[in-house]
Amino acid sequence: MERFLTADGTPTLYHPRYREAYHPRQGALLQARRLYVEKTLTHLHPAPRVLEVGFGLGVNFRAALESALARGVRLRYLAVEKEPLPREVLLRLALPLPRAEGVFAEILEAWPAERFAGSWGELRLLFGDIREVALPQAWATAVFLDPFSPKVNPEAWEPPVLQRLRQALRPRGRLATYSAQGAFRRALQRAGFSVHRVPGVGKREWTVGIAVKAPPE
Ligand SMILES: C[S@@+](CC[C@H](N)C(=O)[O-])C[C@H]1O[C@@H](n2cnc3c(N)ncnc32)[C@H](O)[C@@H]1O
Repeated sequence: MERFLTADGTPTLYHPRYREAYHPRQGALLQARRLYVEKTLTHLHPAPRVLEVGFGLGVNFRAALESALARGVRLRYLAVEKEPLPREVLLRLALPLPRAEGVFAEILEAWPAERFAGSWGELRLLFGDIREVALPQAWATAVFLDPFSPKVNPEAWEPPVLQRLRQALRPRGRLATYSAQGAFRRALQRAGFSVHRVPGVGKREWTVGIAVKAPPE
């Protein structure tokens, strides 16, 4: 897989089968912070619990961890990943996050594993397809929905997946994603989210869903 630098100087990879990069060219860490961490209010939460679809390079994980470590709060992070990257690849994808990189280096020593824990919190991985893995109910304060685009990776955006993500969220929990696709937004609404268009950084619009309505049975 080809590695290249995005505009904020942080690295990403190009996936030849999906024919897409793991992150936008405007900035891998930029998107992680401004969209996933901040639009879900994870950077303010006293006890954040994140559910992520697509762990990838762990950029979103490391950005959330950096924020938690800077504030002295514990992070609980559950990520679903059907195609985990090998350790040798992850080792070449350092980020300018002084606190989180130390923890990530320890994680990589035992990578891949289903659970990592320390004084910083806990990272659990479900190595499987988001359509098939069992998710906790009413657990997450935030969902980071970060598969490849609906065009090339449609199964990860299907209505039944969105309904299960809604059920995994606590009341008033927030889902964030870079996609602004109309069909996806309508499905998100039907899954029990109030749906908000938010201005993107380096992209016109992102989407935030808030778990305000009751999830469908
Ligand atoms: C855009 S990348 C994620 C980038 C990542 N969030 C990060 O911070 O580096 C998309 C990821 O979703 C994973 N993925 C795609 N379809 C999936 C599925 N059906 N179930 C679980 N993971 C999936 C891919 O293997 C890939 O690692």
